Order: sequence, then structure tokens, then C-alpha cells
Amino acid sequence: MTLLRDHDLARAFDHASRTYDRLTALNPGYRTDLLRSARRLRLPDDGAGLHVLDLGCGTGASTRALLRAAPRARITAVDASGGMLRQALAKPWPDRVRFLHLSAEELPTAGEGPFDAVFAAYLFRNVTGPDAVLHSVRTLLKPGGRLAVHEYSLGGSPAQRALWTAVCHGFVIPAGTLTGDRALYRHLWHSVLDFDAVPDFTGRLTRAGFPDARRALPLAGWQTGITHTFVARNGPVPAAAGPARQSFAGTAAAPVPTVEAG
Ligand SMILES: C[S@@+](CC[C@H](N)C(=O)[O-])C[C@H]1O[C@@H](n2cnc3c(N)ncnc32)[C@H](O)[C@@H]1O
Repeated sequence: MTLLRDHDLARAFDHASRTYDRLTALNPGYRTDLLRSARRLRLPDDGAGLHVLDLGCGTGASTRALLRAAPRARITAVDASGGMLRQALAKPWPDRVRFLHLSAEELPTAGEGPFDAVFAAYLFRNVTGPDAVLHSVRTLLKPGGRLAVHEYSLGGSPAQRALWTAVCHGFVIPAGTLTGDRALYRHLWHSVLDFDAVPDFTGRLTRAGFPDARRALPLAGWQTGITHTFVARNGPVPAAAGPARQSFAGTAAAPVPTVEAG
């Protein structure tokens, strides 16, 4: 199966956005695991004085986790899907949280940052060029800045692949078919099977310039061995990023303006 990418993926998330929160609420631990990963950033002093990026914020579940982990931080939350952002914006947020309709690829040239920390939950499996996005993240992070990637990344055992396939066929794809989002949830199934196993993604982080990215932390419940938190710190600052690889935000749906949530 060809995975959904860029415009097609943003359009699929636009459509799924109306039911996304209800479907993820059926996944035991979805929100508590996000909170666990956000806390693994170990931001000091409740995040006071820090600026944190939520990359691929979706409907705001990961943003909410960041806010709970660092209630005094300033948070910029970014997503390529206007539909997902609209769902996020419909929720109440404090003034120090704002949402931007931008892709991860566009962000380095959008004049945002630098950030003290970046949280990316369920993003990297979805991007066309994970190495390029990791490079961008490095240019957006302060030296020594913290990164937490929360992602489906199978440990490599056949049992984990079989469990993932069983969950997708038994529940995820049928539920997604009912909401009219079969293509997106089949993409979810395949993108996890195709994505890096744990050692591959830690190696990718190390090569990208996160020198201490040596291990992935497990999560609880049925997702043990399937979903992980990768935590790392930025190494020395790389050269500034070039122009965004591809500009597509705003074309997938009516553009969502930059909004300071209040
Ligand atoms: C599975 S959702 C996760 C949303 C949220 N982080 C959460 O934990 O609930 C993935 C999100 O990543 C966004 N996304 C995918 N590719 C992206 C890209 N290249 N740049 C920005 N956002 C992207 C999608 O639009 C979608 O909202």
C-alpha cells in the first residue's frame, strides 16, 4: 500500500478531525501515555520561562499533555491539517498557548523559535523526510534543548507486528471505516509496520545530531513494545536550514489563521 503523504495526508486528517477525539478516547491510555511522554522532557520549574513547540499537535491532545507537564511554559502548537487545528482551537486554552497552521517542513523558515524543547507525538512516522524534519528540529532548538518523540515504533519482534495488525484489523480500521476514514486508518496500520524499529530511530536521532539519543522508554498497557518515548538533547547548533522542502499548509482545507488561544 502507498502511504498517504503531504497534501493527501493533510486532507485525510482534515476529514478525520471531526471524529478523531472520540476514536482516540477509545484507545486505553492514549492521553495518559502522552502525558507520560511530555513529562519525560523533564522541564524544570513547571516550564516557567520556557518556550515549547508541539510539532504535529493535531486536535490538541499532545498540547494538553504538554500544558499539564509544564503548566507555566509558553507553548506553540503547529499542524499541517487545518481541520485538526480547528478542533484544537474549539477547546479552551490559556493565553500562553497558540496554534499555527504550518507543516513541520515550513516551520524553520517561518521565523519561529528558538525553542527550549520540542514534543512530537505521532508525527515522524507521517512525514516524507524524517531526517530533514529532525534537522529542522535541531535548527529550531536551542543548544542543549530537549526533544521528546512519542511514536509507534515496534521493537522488531514478530509478536509485536502481529499484535499491531490484530489491533488494526479488529478495531482501528473497522472503526475508521464507519467514520469514512478507512484510507487514513489503513495508512496508520501500514505506516507503523513500515516505520523504524527502535534501534533504527535512535540511530537516526544520533546521526541527526542528538548525541545522547541512545534509548527509547516504553509505555504501559497493550502499547508496551509498540509505542515508545525517545528523549534526546540537542547537540551543537547546525547550520541554518534552507528553504522549506515543500509548502502545502493552507491548501488542504480553508486556512486556519495564526491564532493566539485565549
Ligand atoms: C496522529 S496525529 C497526532 C496528533 C497529536 N500530536 C496527538 O498526539 O494527538 C498526527 C498529526 O500530525 C500532523 N502532521 C502530519 N504530517 C505533518 C507535517 N509534515 N507537518 C505538520 N503536521 C503534520 C497531522 O496533520 C496530524 O494532526
